[in-house]
Amino acid sequence: MKRTLGVCYYPEHWNETQWAEDAARMARLGLTWVRIGEFAWSRMEPEPGRYDWAWLDRAIETLGARGLKVVLGTPTAAPPRWMLGRHPDMLAVDKDGKPRKFGSRRHYDFSHRGYRVECAKIVTALAERYGRNPHVAAWQTDNEYACNETTLSYSDAARAAFQDWLAQRYQSPDALNRAWGNVFWSMDYREFHEIDLPNLTVCEPNPSHVMDFRRFASDEVASFNRLQVEIIRKHSAAPVAHNFMGAITEFDHWKVGADLDITSWDSYPLGFLSDRIPADADHKRRFVRQGDPDFQAFHHDLYRAVGRGRWWIMEQQPGPVNWAPFNPDPLPGMARLWAWEAFAHGAEAVCYFRWRQAPFAQEQMHAGLLRPDSAPAQAFGEAEQVAKELAAMPAEAGTGKADVALVFDYASDWAWAIQPQGRSFQYFWLVFHMYRGLRRLGLNVDIVPPDTADLSAYKLVLAPGLFTLSDPLKAALAGFKGTAILGPRTNSKTPNFSIPVPLPPALPGLDAVIARVESLPPDVSVPLAQGGALVNWREKLEGGAQAVEMAEDGWPALVAAGKLHYLGGWPDDGALARILQRACSAEGIETDPLPEGLRRRDTATHRFLFNYNPVPAEWGGVSIPPAGVHWTAR
Ligand code: GAL
Repeated sequence: MKRTLGVCYYPEHWNETQWAEDAARMARLGLTWVRIGEFAWSRMEPEPGRYDWAWLDRAIETLGARGLKVVLGTPTAAPPRWMLGRHPDMLAVDKDGKPRKFGSRRHYDFSHRGYRVECAKIVTALAERYGRNPHVAAWQTDNEYACNETTLSYSDAARAAFQDWLAQRYQSPDALNRAWGNVFWSMDYREFHEIDLPNLTVCEPNPSHVMDFRRFASDEVASFNRLQVEIIRKHSAAPVAHNFMGAITEFDHWKVGADLDITSWDSYPLGFLSDRIPADADHKRRFVRQGDPDFQAFHHDLYRAVGRGRWWIMEQQPGPVNWAPFNPDPLPGMARLWAWEAFAHGAEAVCYFRWRQAPFAQEQMHAGLLRPDSAPAQAFGEAEQVAKELAAMPAEAGTGKADVALVFDYASDWAWAIQPQGRSFQYFWLVFHMYRGLRRLGLNVDIVPPDTADLSAYKLVLAPGLFTLSDPLKAALAGFKGTAILGPRTNSKTPNFSIPVPLPPALPGLDAVIARVESLPPDVSVPLAQGGALVNWREKLEGGAQAVEMAEDGWPALVAAGKLHYLGGWPDDGALARILQRACSAEGIETDPLPEGLRRRDTATHRFLFNYNPVPAEWGGVSIPPAGVHWTAR
């Protein structure tokens, strides 16, 4: 596989006289890909039904003439103002019942059937015109589904579509009443049309009701995307991508990914550290200009698995962004390190966002490869260096094999957000905590879906917080020869969102029952006999299973039947390191406990070390500078 670089470009933002020079500079820099078009609807169709393709024809031709390959975006994340005149009720409605307004982007409701028809029209027109254009070498559908909390809408369109979805799923109101337990608080329904969306209730709605609403909303994203993919495929043989985001769980990416040829994601390490990663002040200070050392890799491993194997970075942070609470300047070298880390995890392409910083509108404070005056910005030289290094790297480097699999499930994130039972039980961060623990040991990790049917490639499997164990995963675990660590909370609910009887975890051969659970405030922990503690969440386990770890208060914390383990709590860093190290030793997995901020990734041909620290790191006889990347052939 050839690794390539690219950039996001907005020809409609610049005077046409600038395009040829931009294209020539991109080619000289060593870029292969240019993504365009994803917000240009008002210029593609200035008035309903009147298309203007001339400028886009020329833009594509200008880029193509320099040998650049175009990723053409469908513009459906930014419907023009005239669209609202045609469909005044197309706006998504927030939880408080207020419609969101025109004036930025993503102002549409996934369930609005009229808007879907408009999307189908513009995508058809675009695909008909450019489907066989030799320079259009890939497509992107829409832009960042779910961005700015746009998945859940409490609109009339969503209510009608939800009722229809429920009728198909349950067939009769009685079946739905039974599944949800609507006898509780007299919530029984007589007809599907009586069922409202689960907002503005007096106190909390039925969790089964919310869970189905989340499933429905996720399915709406998948069907919205599929509509576009199917149209594009009719007219073009080029692969179709979508750009996912970081720590976004509002829809099931496994389902959307199944319809794509390329999964991609938008990586803004400093924005994420400032905006979304729960970490203490020391961690945020130490990594303020580099980003969290595991967050990018987690998503590389996730999106490599989501979809059919081909994955990209569609947008790579080049310098300060504009949208996080604080927007520091990356340490020199980070725009290179982030790109190399993505390649080491198997990325086929890394595209920087964006070519030139726009001097106008919302993102005028967001850096690009060029400054607004077209002089190179910090990342320009780093991209140039990566391009040269790529040229010297063997093409067939492979993505690297992992001995460890970590299960990730979007529905579990919804379940524990609906009924967390303790503010700090957050599924995404539980899985991420385990991932970080594995990475600190220097391990390659594969992230796998909740319906994984084959684990035979792995020696160690972790499945924390899975609210229901799927049948394929149960079968795969039954035949699994390595060590499995399930829990906390794994298999503790039925698909309908109730507590199963016999009580959880109900794992074959494991004599253990969760007698009761407790959630813990941040300053309370349950010490373990061998050191470390359980935090956030602990379960009291009864039964005769072998206790591998005990809490100091005499309750087992980790129990086992042979190699099948159940973990009855959220281990802190120390306890997690011991549990993982023990499992790796048992399986003969070689570990390499790394110093803070240093991370390792093995590919088929190379060993990469990434120094996320603001200071040099000494490891294995080499000194790696701050923001440095070191690789050796294996
Ligand atoms: C992404 C988005 C881009 C741009 C970028 C700025 O979320 O896809 O269009 O807004 O953020 O960082």
